[in-house]
Amino acid sequence: MRNLRLADGTLMPQIGLGTWELRGDACKSAVKNAINLGYTHIDTAWLYQNQREIGQAIVESDINRSNLFITSKIWRTELSYNQVLTQCDEILSQLQMDYVDLLLIHWPSDENIPLSETIEAFNYIQSQGKAISIGVSNFSNDLIDQAKTISKTPINVNQVPYHIRHQTPNLLNHCQESNVVVTAYCPLGRTQILKEPLLTKIAKRHNKSTAKVALLWLIQKNMIVIPKASSTEHLKDNLDLFGWELSEDEVKQLDNIS
Ligand SMILES: NC(=O)c1ccc[n+]([C@@H]2O[C@H](COP(=O)([O-])OP(=O)(O)OC[C@H]3O[C@@H](n4cnc5c(N)ncnc54)[C@H](OP(=O)(O)O)[C@@H]3O)[C@@H](O)[C@H]2O)c1
Repeated sequence: MRNLRLADGTLMPQIGLGTWELRGDACKSAVKNAINLGYTHIDTAWLYQNQREIGQAIVESDINRSNLFITSKIWRTELSYNQVLTQCDEILSQLQMDYVDLLLIHWPSDENIPLSETIEAFNYIQSQGKAISIGVSNFSNDLIDQAKTISKTPINVNQVPYHIRHQTPNLLNHCQESNVVVTAYCPLGRTQILKEPLLTKIAKRHNKSTAKVALLWLIQKNMIVIPKASSTEHLKDNLDLFGWELSEDEVKQLDNIS
C-alpha cells in the first residue's frame, strides 16, 4: 500500500474504504472482509451511524490497531467547543478506540460557530492524544486558509467530492500548494461515471475495470481515494490499483472530459 505524508509527518494510506451507507451487519462484514483483503484505512463519521459495527469488526479481526488508519468526522451541528469534545468521546467509545488517526470537521458550521472555537477544541483533542492528525472536509480555499491560520497544528487534509464529472482543480491546486492533502470522496461518482465512454475506452486499452481507471486518475494527482464497496469483487478491484499507470495523454483527456 502506498502512503502520502501529511503536513504533520504522519503517513496516510492512499486507498481507504468509504463506509457511508454501510450499516449494521452488512457494515461489519464488509469491514472484516476489507481488513482480510489488506485494507488498512477506513473512513467513517459520527453521522454514518456505523462506528459501533466498524469498531466491533476491528476487534474481531486479526489486526493490530497500530496498523490501521481510522478517519472520523465531527458533524456540523456539533461544532461548539464542548460539543466537539463530547462528540469525539462518543466516536472513540463507539469505535472502541483510544484515538482516531485523523479527525475532520465534516462540514463548515451552519450555525455561526466561529471556526476558531472549533479548531481550538480540535487542537485540545490532539494534545490529549485522542486524534493523531486533524483536518477538514467540504472546505473552500478561503476557509482552508482561515483554518490554517487559526490552528496551532497543521490542517492536514481537506476531504471533498472529486471524480471525472466533478473536478475542482482550483481547490486541488490551492490545497496541494498549501501542503493540505486532498481526499477524494465519491471517487466513483456513486457508480454514475462508470459507463462513461472515455473511461470505457481507456479501461479496455489497459484491460482494467473502469473503476480502476477512475481511481488511478485521482491517485496520479496525489490524492487519497476512499471508494465505498461492499462486495468482495469491488473491494478487491479497488485495492489492487498499483503496478500500471495512465499515460499523460490519458490523464489530460480525462481532465478535459466535457
Ligand atoms: N466528507 C463528506 O461529506 C462525504 C460525503 C460523501 C461520501 N464521503 C465518503 O466517501 C466515501 C465514498 O463515496 P460514496 O460512498 O458516496 O460513493 P463512491 O465510492 O463513489 O461509490 C460507491 C458505489 O460504487 C460501487 N462500487 C465500488 N467499487 C466498485 C467497482 N470496483 N466497480 C463497480 N462499482 C463499484 C459500490 O457498490 P457496492 O457497495 O455494491 O460494492 C457503491 O454502489 C463514502 O463512503 C464516505 O466514506 C464523505
